[in-house]
Amino acid sequence: MSSKTIVAATRRLPAACEARLSSHYDFRPGDDELAYTPRLLADHAAGASALIVSPCDRIDREAIAALPASIKIIASFSVGFEHIDIDAAKGGNLRVTNTPGVLNDATADIALLLILGASRRALEGRRCLEDGGWQGFRPTLLVGTQITGKRLGIVGMGGIGAAVAKRAQAFGMTVLYHNRKPAQDAADCRFFNSLEEMMPHCDVLSLHLPLTNETQGLIDADKLAWLPAGAILINTARGGLIDDDALIAALKSGKVAAAGLDVFAGEPKFDRRYLDLPNVFLLPHLGSATVETRTAMGMIAITNINAVLSGKEPPYPVV
Ligand code: DGY
Repeated sequence: MSSKTIVAATRRLPAACEARLSSHYDFRPGDDELAYTPRLLADHAAGASALIVSPCDRIDREAIAALPASIKIIASFSVGFEHIDIDAAKGGNLRVTNTPGVLNDATADIALLLILGASRRALEGRRCLEDGGWQGFRPTLLVGTQITGKRLGIVGMGGIGAAVAKRAQAFGMTVLYHNRKPAQDAADCRFFNSLEEMMPHCDVLSLHLPLTNETQGLIDADKLAWLPAGAILINTARGGLIDDDALIAALKSGKVAAAGLDVFAGEPKFDRRYLDLPNVFLLPHLGSATVETRTAMGMIAITNINAVLSGKEPPYPVV
């Protein structure tokens, strides 16, 4: 039996991260196909000192209670940590860490991809080719909305929001934002104290805030009514921020012209009614999915683990 400290992960990690973990620890990679129940998770983590988890793993009170006492740290391979019961972790004397900062650019790129995909009807264009219905250039075929000169409202002006603002400005958009307080990193963007004040001015609304008890279902029918008719809604943050019933109704009525969604409530499940709507451009939670970013996230998770297991303060603690 190995005498090395065991580090378990619920998922496969980027190659460079697995190599680094294997050179220091007895590394136990996870199973990408498995939905870990508390029992399966506890079995997988048996004897381990650290556990690396991902946003789709539900690390609730029951899962935390079932973990072996050897676990000292739950290192999330994500910035968001709404999938972890933080109070239960505190109660169990577990450290929880995350990976902020390094995914701002990758996620902002995907937000722009969604803005363009939704506004320029990319899904319908692709389907037109697939269906064999394309008869060549037509002046009125699949015309979308030009984003140049349009107003983008950003909800949550943290690192990702600021990176989206910079890109949108380069596309000639005017950027408005709502945040708890005016952000330092928001040159030439207009601050609004409330969503109610900002949303009527947004041709495109993009969400960049964490999912918490307060923000769950934030974008509901009442809020969607504040948008101008024909606005576009973008979500690269968390699916639970949006009331799906309300958004689907607004997409059907044309109140919201199009949506670009990378995240869904209850992932990997998602509301399959979105698939029937031509004006919705969907991706499967790819915001941070570049080799560079995912590797950087993994390296941060490892640095957090190394610190905790050697009795030091981790660089990115949640608790
Ligand atoms: C995160 O880090 O929370 C992201 O959703 C992963 O892309």
